[in-house]
Amino acid sequence: MKSVRKISKVWKSKPTIEGAGVHLKRAFGISQVPQFDPFLMLDDFHSSNPADYLPGFPWHPHRGIETITYVQEGLVEHGDSIGNKGVIAAGDVQWMTAGSGVVHSELPSDEFMRDGGVMHGFQIWVNLPARDKMMPPRYQEIPAARIPQATSADGKVTVRVIAGSALGVSAVIETRTPIHYLHFTIQPGGELAQPVPAGDNALVYLISGNAQVGHEHKRVREGQMARLGDGDVVPLAVPAEADGPAELLLLAGTPLNEPVARYGPFVMNTRSEIEQAIRDYESGRMGRIDF
Ligand code: CO
Repeated sequence: MKSVRKISKVWKSKPTIEGAGVHLKRAFGISQVPQFDPFLMLDDFHSSNPADYLPGFPWHPHRGIETITYVQEGLVEHGDSIGNKGVIAAGDVQWMTAGSGVVHSELPSDEFMRDGGVMHGFQIWVNLPARDKMMPPRYQEIPAARIPQATSADGKVTVRVIAGSALGVSAVIETRTPIHYLHFTIQPGGELAQPVPAGDNALVYLISGNAQVGHEHKRVREGQMARLGDGDVVPLAVPAEADGPAELLLLAGTPLNEPVARYGPFVMNTRSEIEQAIRDYESGRMGRIDF
């Protein structure tokens, strides 16, 4: 017997300022661990006003987590202390496993700074289990065309599978612990029941439009996020009479159930590991940047 997940809480993403002054909306943050364990954060940056995004995220370190950047519009230039450099464009995903440590920057590209336009993307942080916190840093950079996509038989539901699986299609990105990261577009009259392993923490974030989520078909609106109770399937639907499609992210992951010690961009298990991270960063052991 399938048990259908219900919404346990709905709230609105909050305007937040991050990096060197980037205006964004935070669906949830690190203060809400362990509700979303292993997820630490979901940010939605979306603006046509250059003042909101031009400051970007200049050089900063990470240790003990993964940061996942998924661009919808605009161009994000990325560089790091290991010498990696590239541009993340619309539909591309950069899944960065910081592991023992990396120093990187994320900025609008020169081209984009010159021409302006709409910048839209998501960044999530995923916690690493204790056994992987000091693994060597790793990148999985997947261009839009290589993100697996599937459409329901009636053509009304499309999914981009960033992690996990949906509609019979599996992700190309490898995760350290079981995670689903799914981007659904549901047309009016479209519906599906997405399997999510029982015991996983799961949430839905509405990028645009309205959708009915969970056992009671509660309506979740643009910019809102719904935390789901336990079960093994999540119903998602858009009523036939809706004005337009809904776009949403579904995140689900197996909780690590480990202690969380955090300081800025370092997330470890104990305070002494955080102190070590700060020492390692300050002494250049996470890499140095040549200016
Ligand atoms: Co970063």
